[in-house]
Amino acid sequence: MNPLKLSSGTTIPAIGFGLWLNKDRETCIASVDAALKAGYRHFDTAQYYKNEAFLGWALASSNIPREELFITTKISNENQHWTDLTPSFEESLKHLQTDYVDLLLLHFPVTELRRPAWRKMEEIYEAGHAKAIGVSNYTITHLTELLAECTVPPAVNQVELHVFLQQPELVKYCQDHNIVVEAYSPLAHGEGLDNPVLAEIAKKHTKTPAQIMIRWCLQIGTVPLPKSETPERIRQNLEVFDFELDTDDLAKIKTLESNLRTAWDPTHVA
Ligand code: A2P
Repeated sequence: MNPLKLSSGTTIPAIGFGLWLNKDRETCIASVDAALKAGYRHFDTAQYYKNEAFLGWALASSNIPREELFITTKISNENQHWTDLTPSFEESLKHLQTDYVDLLLLHFPVTELRRPAWRKMEEIYEAGHAKAIGVSNYTITHLTELLAECTVPPAVNQVELHVFLQQPELVKYCQDHNIVVEAYSPLAHGEGLDNPVLAEIAKKHTKTPAQIMIRWCLQIGTVPLPKSETPERIRQNLEVFDFELDTDDLAKIKTLESNLRTAWDPTHVA
């Protein structure tokens, strides 16, 4: 699993374990345990997910050295006011039982709040409490605004991305500006896993449609963050490094684009 280099100088593991909607304490801890056993070391949570403390507990009890883990959290929309951001981040660190995160993101480009919020993010980065900082759900317009005025550029943009929402212009813009794209809901939230084109490609490689979707994210240079509460699927979603999609597969996948959004749509956020 080749890690990707971030503009901060640190690296990010190629796949992360997504934790959105994994809100029940026992289920969350069990799925993080299963993920650690399967080999995940990269975990993606958020203040909004209300499971930072469960993740923190599961990671602390694993006894895996902190430096082997990559932890991301995100500042929720209501905490983006400049007076709330830093105290809320300190609360997140407590929940996560750590004194730094590997990546801190602004969860959404909140109108009027996101620009002063970024200055607070830069302070947290400069103090060493986040090894890298970035954004989530930013469009090209939001990124252009940020890049024009920031001191520390965003290392990451985490967006909804999968074979049914390919966003090639956004991916290219980010890659041209040294911003790593993370793909949330890389399985389109489970929608489309029965798609016949994916089934055909999966059969050809003796893989599952989910593995084809994850592999596609890797091959376009993004970092997928699949979620699952099922140990067998958690394992399966990491078994994507022993095959390659060829040009024929990639051409077929291109035809699956259908602008399918399963989460927030930031397109018209001023
Ligand atoms: P479950 O948690 O029951 O395993 P996404 O990460 O795109 O949001 O998708 C998450 C959804 O996809 C969850 O409903 C999850 O269900 C399901 N899922 C995760 N991995 C697989 C897999 N390998 N095969 C089928 N469904 C999966």
